[in-house]
Amino acid sequence: MRVGILVYSQTGNTLSVAAKLQDRLRAAGHSVALERITLAGERKQGRRAVELSPLPDVSSHELLVIGSPVEAFSLSPVAVKALEQVGSLRQKSVLCLVTQGFPFPWLGGNRAIRQMTALCEAKGAVVRGGAVVNWVAKTLDRRIADAVDKLAGLV
Ligand SMILES: Cc1cc2nc3c(=O)[nH]c(=O)nc-3n(C[C@H](O)[C@H](O)[C@H](O)COP(=O)(O)O)c2cc1C
Repeated sequence: MRVGILVYSQTGNTLSVAAKLQDRLRAAGHSVALERITLAGERKQGRRAVELSPLPDVSSHELLVIGSPVEAFSLSPVAVKALEQVGSLRQKSVLCLVTQGFPFPWLGGNRAIRQMTALCEAKGAVVRGGAVVNWVAKTLDRRIADAVDKLAGLV
């Protein structure tokens, strides 16, 4: 399957999980492109208004994985903007990947997945599911492995 992984990652956490998922899916025989959502300029601290660089073309992917951190108990405004700007996702399957600093998904991760799901569905996508990685040092490797297993199992 032609898979695109489209990620916003400010400090590298979400990107590192996305890279592991890319390795896993490639090992399973899929064609996988990992692409970044980036900002056009400096991001002003505390402001939710953001300007994006042009988004990668996702039209050729059969399945898209969208990755983003949680910010302020919600989906990052950068990912919100990207999903508002992205073209039609009609007939595409989508998986959601979210990372967050707090240890429990109910502290923003679940909400971010719901927001991502609604934004993708509004573009016509079929959302197959998602995973939240809580960035807790002690059990981090296990949490990342569980998320990669879950997402790879949904492809
Ligand atoms: C401005 C800002 C707000 C954040 N708000 C939350 C939050 O509400 N809940 C949470 O669990 N983590 C929060 N975090 C932590 C990030 O979600 C977490 O560190 C994430 O893994 C970062 O991913 P990245 O390295 O891909 O950018 C916040 C981080 C930043 C920079």
